[in-house]
Amino acid sequence: ARKALGKRNLVLVGLMGAGKSAIGKLVAQALGIPFIDSDHEIERVSRMTIPELFQAYGEPEFRKLEQRVIRRLLRTGPRVLSTGGGAFINEDTRAAIRDNGLSLWLDADLDVLWERVLKRDNRPLLKTENPKKTLEDLMIARYPIYATAHLRVKSRDVKKDEMVGEVIA
Ligand code: S3P
Repeated sequence: ARKALGKRNLVLVGLMGAGKSAIGKLVAQALGIPFIDSDHEIERVSRMTIPELFQAYGEPEFRKLEQRVIRRLLRTGPRVLSTGGGAFINEDTRAAIRDNGLSLWLDADLDVLWERVLKRDNRPLLKTENPKKTLEDLMIARYPIYATAHLRVKSRDVKKDEMVGEVIA
């Protein structure tokens, strides 16, 4: 898998709660390459948290910043890069990821995602009257777009090692 990647990044895409960061870190370890998370990088360069960025500048500005950060991250590799759930949905960011990286969609069922996002209160897009419905709507709207990733692995509630093995395979 390490050889197949060449100098590219393995880019994990998918909805919030799919396990992109958790699995990505372990995959990177197993492949012996660095791991980087685009949301962390955005927070580092802006010195603001994701909720603060949404609050202060709104989603369109966040998407622009996200695109710049991801384009830059894609220049260095090989690495495992986990991206925020909306990154691959943005047309320009998606094109950059598909052209310069190997994209892998970590697909998960709504209940799995929901259980995981409940654990942290850091998703501005879910600050709605009915966040589970919002998550479901996002899932329906984004599904066909994530499906254009190069690879797809179903994220399930199994031992993390098992998921890592599937991603590498
Ligand atoms: C978003 C997902 C978040 C973060 C931001 C927007 C989205 O990342 O980038 O809240 O549009 O789905 P995670 O997928 O890591 O939660």
